[in-house]
Amino acid sequence: GMPDRVRIYELGPRDGLQSEQVLVSTPSKVRFIDMLSGTGVYAVETTSFVHPKWVPQMADNAEVLRAITRRDGVEYPVLVPNLKGFERALAAGAASVAVIGIPSETFSRKNLNCSVEEGVQSAIAIIHRSAASGVPCRAYVSCALGCPFEGAMDAATVARLAARLYEAGCYEICLADTIGCGTPRDMELLLREVLPAVPAASIAVHCHDTYGQALANILCALRHGVRTIDSSVAGLGGCPFAGPAASGNVATEDVVYMLNGLGVPTGADFELLVDAGEFIIGELGRRNSSRAAVASRKR
Ligand code: HMG
Ligand code: MG
Repeated sequence: GMPDRVRIYELGPRDGLQSEQVLVSTPSKVRFIDMLSGTGVYAVETTSFVHPKWVPQMADNAEVLRAITRRDGVEYPVLVPNLKGFERALAAGAASVAVIGIPSETFSRKNLNCSVEEGVQSAIAIIHRSAASGVPCRAYVSCALGCPFEGAMDAATVARLAARLYEAGCYEICLADTIGCGTPRDMELLLREVLPAVPAASIAVHCHDTYGQALANILCALRHGVRTIDSSVAGLGGCPFAGPAASGNVATEDVVYMLNGLGVPTGADFELLVDAGEFIIGELGRRNSSRAAVASRKR
């Protein structure tokens, strides 16, 4: 079966822009976010409170968060890699946050500059602090279907990390295929391990499309009851610390095209998503990586 309804968690302004060399101006980011929040997606991940030396594109995080127009019914989560980032996010008015759990020692060191256990302890501390502040928190589990440096990840180990973060009190676990290496078989094996600890309604999937497996993996997850799909308009995205094999997220336009075809409502408007994707690739001087967006504009 398929879920009755699917929520689209749009990543364009954060994952989508974090690796881009062209620095997008603050007003253009704000315009992009305001376009996205008008498409009908349930959440727009707005920015990240990371170190500007590590991710220069996110140096204007507080200004962006203050300047956007917040629409009712849309969430504006921000990524926080550590407690310092969490505090800065709250000071800038964040009402929803996302933390990162990483099961691979090498990727943890490269991405967060700490060990797996230090990173998990920090994520759990943020989850507790966010609960105390009444701020909802989601937790990413990176490398869920493979690590750019260590290769295959043990599904049971990934699931134990997901369970720890869920039990700490986050509202959602986002299983992230950081370098898009997984196939539907890997997704299936992982979900079988995770579902006993985390209900399907509290799982999201975050599929980078590096190997062209994202839509197939998403379909697999939907069949297991997952109802929240991460994606980025124009297929932008990638983690700058995951090496050269890291590429874009699955394109939101492609996900919505598929769900429209399946008759599963998302609330998101395909044409408005295409407009937002075209706007941002114009700013970046880049090609549109959404197959559905490109095809629809040729008709
Ligand atoms: P660090 O250097 O280990 O930090 O960086 P530190 O605690 O040692 O502090 C050093 C200095 O940085 C201090 O300043 C701190 O105040 C400052 P000083 O005293 O020297 O003047 N500092 C900060 N400044 C601003 N914001 C902060 C912050 N924290 C400390 N949050 C840190 C640790 C985590 C900050 C660094 O490693 C970092 O910024 N990493 C970037 C992580 C990132 O953005 N990765 C990409 C996003 S994750 C991703 O893409 C994966 C995902 O999409 C899912 C998937 O696909 O897998 C989510
Ligand atoms: Mg990502």
